Amino acid sequence: MINNNLNNYKGIILAGGKGTRLYPLTKVVSKQLLPIYDKPMIMYPLETLIRAGIKDILIITNPSDTTIFQDLLGDGSQYDCNIYYEIQNKPEGIAQAFIIAKDWLEDSNCILILGDNIFLKGNISNKLEKAMDNNKGATLFAYEVEDASSYGVINMSDDGTVASIVEKPENPESNYAVTGLYAYDNSVVKKAISLKPSDRGELEITDINNKYMLENSVDVTILPKDSFWLDAGTIDSLLEASNLIKEIKEQGEDLF
Ligand code: TTP
Repeated sequence: MINNNLNNYKGIILAGGKGTRLYPLTKVVSKQLLPIYDKPMIMYPLETLIRAGIKDILIITNPSDTTIFQDLLGDGSQYDCNIYYEIQNKPEGIAQAFIIAKDWLEDSNCILILGDNIFLKGNISNKLEKAMDNNKGATLFAYEVEDASSYGVINMSDDGTVASIVEKPENPESNYAVTGLYAYDNSVVKKAISLKPSDRGELEITDINNKYMLENSVDVTILPKDSFWLDAGTIDSLLEASNLIKEIKEQGEDLF
């Protein structure tokens, strides 16, 4: 029986990708190394994992970027964790992370966080810890947005369970967007291996989530209203993230 406690979780930060929406900023620099106010972007998802108590963290990068991330973050000893590195040869989908991480994960459960997702305030790491304690398969983290049509959208049943997850619906049934933070049991590796590439040629994280849906083992944690979730993948959201962090810091408040 899988023991879903914290000791049995490893963390993955997916920090490859093309970053086309940020061209030319990302033509020669990895998106996850761009500055967000006073730190390289990756340091925010890293902090989210570290604050949740995760000790073993794998950073997956494009082939040309690994040494730069290594120069920045080293073996993790300065952050009181162990950091490992793996390469994704081509950006063939978020779900490929679990195939790349297969041997490193061994029989551990895992948290995946996207390297361009920034979670601030609302003690989200604490929510992550709780999810790891209670995870029955997959736990998704949803954030309420005004218009969910450009996200994966979670539709809830009346009893609070997940009814469906719909990718970029024209007319979203709810305002709950799936964020780039996921908790999975170890069966995620087998599920990823069994995936077929989508029409756009990627192994889709939504297809993983739908496999858990078929098993009735998806939970959702709704992130608190006083928290912030930013996907810093566009020029506007990149700037918004920097401005928000500056504002929070100037108010003397805790960022996380
Ligand atoms: P996206 O923002 O969906 O893709 P991208 O980073 O390539 O950017 P763009 O759409 O502007 O071309 O990716 C979300 C995060 O996941 C981001 O941190 C990059 C990462 N990622 C990978 O590392 N490998 C992949 O195969 C994919 C699809 C994404």
